[in-house]
Amino acid sequence: MELLLLLAVVLLGFFASIRRRSYSASRRAPAPPAPPAVHRVRDPDVAHRALVEDADGFSTRPVMPFFVNLAKMRGGRRNENISTVPHGPHWRALRCNITAETLHPSRLGLGYLEPLQREAIQDLVAALQPAGAVHAAGEQLIRDHIRSAVFRVIARLCFGDSVDECHVRDICCQVHGMQVAIGEIKPSPRSSMLAKLAHWRRQRRLLAFQGRVNDLCLPLIGARRRRPREDGGLRPYIDTLIDLRVPEGDTEHDGRRALRDDEMVDLVLEFFGAGTGSVTVCLEWTLAHLVAQPDVQEKLRREVDGDAPSRSQLMRGMPYLHAVILESLRMHPPTPMALRHVQADAAAGVLVGAPANTDLIVLFMLGDMGRDSKKWKDPNEFRPERFLPGGEAESVGPLPRRKETSRMMPFGAGHRFCPGVGLAMLMLKCFLAALVREFHWAAPTDAVIDLTELDGFLKTMKKPLSARLTRRT
Ligand code: HEM
Repeated sequence: MELLLLLAVVLLGFFASIRRRSYSASRRAPAPPAPPAVHRVRDPDVAHRALVEDADGFSTRPVMPFFVNLAKMRGGRRNENISTVPHGPHWRALRCNITAETLHPSRLGLGYLEPLQREAIQDLVAALQPAGAVHAAGEQLIRDHIRSAVFRVIARLCFGDSVDECHVRDICCQVHGMQVAIGEIKPSPRSSMLAKLAHWRRQRRLLAFQGRVNDLCLPLIGARRRRPREDGGLRPYIDTLIDLRVPEGDTEHDGRRALRDDEMVDLVLEFFGAGTGSVTVCLEWTLAHLVAQPDVQEKLRREVDGDAPSRSQLMRGMPYLHAVILESLRMHPPTPMALRHVQADAAAGVLVGAPANTDLIVLFMLGDMGRDSKKWKDPNEFRPERFLPGGEAESVGPLPRRKETSRMMPFGAGHRFCPGVGLAMLMLKCFLAALVREFHWAAPTDAVIDLTELDGFLKTMKKPLSARLTRRT
């Protein structure tokens, strides 16, 4: 069936190109509007001026061509999630909902997150435990184990306890498949017919993943709708989406409507993808540096040893843990770029050197900012001490401050900064502290840790981390 479809696409493409050629020969069609020019920003000062000081002009993301194509493939309907929706009333409704109802520190502090994390960590430690005796050292590929554990927490925050382990594992596989498939899609309008075919096949693969996620999530949404509401306890993200009313039109004064099920699936997918991928990638990078630098690992262990720390100890009482994570985010921000679609007049005067009088797609290169040698001493060295009191970056945090110049922005900046920053920092600290407390981490025998980066949808380790783990008593 797929072969027939491929053949049809080849033939259609061929005839279309003949028609196009003869058409353009006979009659000049009006030129299509020029696509916006692409401009890259690597300088943290320029990024700060644009994203923080001029946030209104830099608050809409460009429409990704593959989303448009995907929408065409599924009958023209393009659903918006928080990341894709233009800055305006619909975005405000979705963003306020996730921030106030799910990700706000006051919600995260209600006490339901800690047992979820504890269970996920227990399972992760059991999965990483070298087969056999407690003290035996075993080599492990780490990434998949971490992803499953992080996903488990995110899935519970999303669906509450109405989702069983098996279902969680299935959704995790499909969401990960989708992320890999998105990373593989690199459209190039002038490519050969063969490249177009490959591109078309990748889009179909992505669509198939999305179909399977729909099949897995829709029954869960239905079940949540029918379930009587409980007072107190965890109010899962999906319940907040069921209760949410978004503007019907483009202004705040328009009437309000409920979200459709398919819109909810897209928002859930975003929650899963954003919540799991970046945290997993950051943990893997951090562990890789701890394996490569046993002195840093030992220093961190001295701080986290003892009973599992509470949320407030994690957030305020462990400066070296905080510094290790910031250093990892500086060197390898999991999301390599923040993207904006900027009107010509908003760009003028802010983006010096950018093409004038045209709309722009601006790529803020988050990875380059953290390694800017004008801002950082020895930027390619992993040295958490720089974030400790007295260090060159003692006042730098995960988000840029409005009144200070920015030196790094791993969670983006301006109106569209990452709303998951609080949850992400909490999960990173909680998982990292447990993994260092429970295991000694070392490189596999005779191996050197390869820290080469691979830029796709996320900035991952090109060679996934494999480490020799020894369980501590
Ligand atoms: C280490 C973990 C994470 C990193 C490094 C990260 C990074 C980012 C970055 C760079 C952006 C784009 C910001 C911009 O354009 O200025 C973003 C957006 C976003 N992130 Fe995260 N993120 C992480 C975890 C999370 C988590 C745990 C969630 C939620 C469960 C989340 C949800 C979102 C959403 C919804 C957006 C879109 C915001 C908007 O457009 O208004 N992220 N994130």
